[in-house]
Order: sequence, then C-alpha cells, then structure tokens
Amino acid sequence: MTDPKPAVLVTRKLPQAIETRLKELFETRLNPTDEPMSAEALIAASAETDVLVPTVTDRLTAPVIDALSERLRLIANFGVGVDHIDLAAAAARGVLVTNTPGVLTEDTADLTMALMLSAPRRMVEGDRLARSGEWDGWTPTFMMGERVSGKRLGIVGMGRIGSAVARRARGFSMSIHYHNRRRVHRDVEAELEATWWEDLDQMLAHMDFISINCPHTAETRHLLSEARLRSLQPHAFVVNTSRGEIIDEAALARCLADGVLGGAGLDVYEREPEIEENLRRLDNVVLAPHLGSATREGRIAMGERVLINIKTFVDGHSPPDRVVPAHGL
Ligand code: DGY
Repeated sequence: MTDPKPAVLVTRKLPQAIETRLKELFETRLNPTDEPMSAEALIAASAETDVLVPTVTDRLTAPVIDALSERLRLIANFGVGVDHIDLAAAAARGVLVTNTPGVLTEDTADLTMALMLSAPRRMVEGDRLARSGEWDGWTPTFMMGERVSGKRLGIVGMGRIGSAVARRARGFSMSIHYHNRRRVHRDVEAELEATWWEDLDQMLAHMDFISINCPHTAETRHLLSEARLRSLQPHAFVVNTSRGEIIDEAALARCLADGVLGGAGLDVYEREPEIEENLRRLDNVVLAPHLGSATREGRIAMGERVLINIKTFVDGHSPPDRVVPAHGL
C-alpha cells in the first residue's frame, strides 16, 4: 500500500500552473477566494496539514507557531523574505522553514531601477500632468528633475539583489558604493567597481542615492532612523524594495516634507497595505504596491521552488532552500 499523499495548505491564490501541480502531487487545500487567513483559521487548519505554504501576508508569530498542530512539519514559504515567520519558534518546534531565493533577484533589481529612475525624473508626477489635459507645453525650465547618470549609489546590503542592482546601475554610469556586514569577494568588487564602506553613517553622508537591499531582521529594523535620514545629502533619493520596517516610515515622511531629502521610491511599507498618509501626499515620492517580484515568470519560478522544497522534503531529503535547519528530522 502506498503512503497517503501529504496534506498541503496554501494560504493565498498562487499562479494557476503552480496550483495545478500542487494538486497533482499532494493533497492540496487551495484558497480560491484569496482572502487572507486569520491566525485562528491557520491554527485550526494545521490539525489536517503536513506542509503550510504561507506568504508575506501571513504573520507566523511565536504564539501562532506554538499553537500549530504537531502534524505540521514544514513551512514552505512562497517568497524569499521570511521576516513574517518567527524562525526561532519554528526551530524550537522542529518545524522546517524554506523560502524561494534566487528566482526573484532580477525582477526586484529591475523594479529598484524603475524607482531609482522614476523618482528623480518625476515620471509619475509627469504622467499625472500629461493625463490631466492641463499641460501647457515644453519650456526650458519645465519640470526639471535630477540626473541619475554619474551619481553615487550607496547599496545597503550587497547580497544577490544588491549585486543585481549594482550591475544595472553600472549600466547607468552610476558609481557603486555599498555597506554590508561582510565585504564581498574582491572579484565581485572589481567587476562592479564597487567601494565598500565599513561605516554605514559615513557612506550615507556621501551618497546621492541609497538603495535598501538588506533583509529585515531585529538588527535592521529602522536602520534608516530619523537621525540617519537627516544625515543624508539634501538632494539624496532613498529607494526601498526590501522591507518597509528597515526605514522609519513616519520619519521619512517628515524628512521629505521638511525638504531634508530629494525624494524617495518605495515598494514596501511598515504596515502594509497601509501607507503613511503624509507620504501619499508628496509629489517627490513614487509609491509602488509591493511589486518587486510581481512578474508572471518570477511568480511561477517562486512556485516551482516551493514545489521542489515540498517534494524533496516528503521524499525524505533535506529541501534545498532551508532557512531553518531542524535537527533530527
Ligand atoms: C519576497 O519574496 O520576499 C517578496 O517580498 C514577497 O514576499
């Protein structure tokens, strides 16, 4: 007799091809309405679940993880960021956690560049004016922005996505600077012509653009505090495609309103889907609704990583994208 298929619970609607494959391979419970699941619903459903597939919209805090059924053995996150999962609580329970690294690097770097170009070149403001029918025509001083080419870009977090941003920014003739806990290999530095700043504060004070590309952890929460934001050059632009919590969002809105900064391009927010009201009012800010990995190709590739992680796990092997190695499983 063959073993019953493992029960997989998917909390949000995934691309069709991924849902079809999940159904073929496992006893899968999908969420066709795409309504976010409450913590209570997740906990109740875990009694009949071996593998949970959450997304960034699920808050798997320590109390939630502690209340999950013993049956649940793997959290196969659909996404690379795992800051919505209490990893220590999962490790303590012996629950494995996997994510989907690598497959959304290029898409997120593309969106970073889109924000880095559209904020200083006033693309969204210009689009609004062009659509309004109130544009009076070209003049030599009309709607001037800031040049991107030749400017200094400071990348906070030179991992996969930070490096992909650096490669693109080189193509725009920007000079690349970065702050990272560990200096990257000298070959990578040479390829990107990148300068490492051990001291974040020193780097920030010298940059024209800052791109946030580090993960959100207890150490990086409000890394861009009000004091740091106020230490930037007054023409500097801040771009964030990582996690909203890394920047003090209310302080950013204050700094922009006070004219202490040139502008910002944001894809992520501290309390998604809420966005600081003062940010929404400002013309020198371009706001995207968490679109970093939102390409058809990227989302399918993320789903394929989820499938590989689950399949490897149920076949009795260590899944390739383990974030929490649980001993003894
Ligand atoms: C990621 O993969 O981390 C994206 O931000 C969506 O969660």
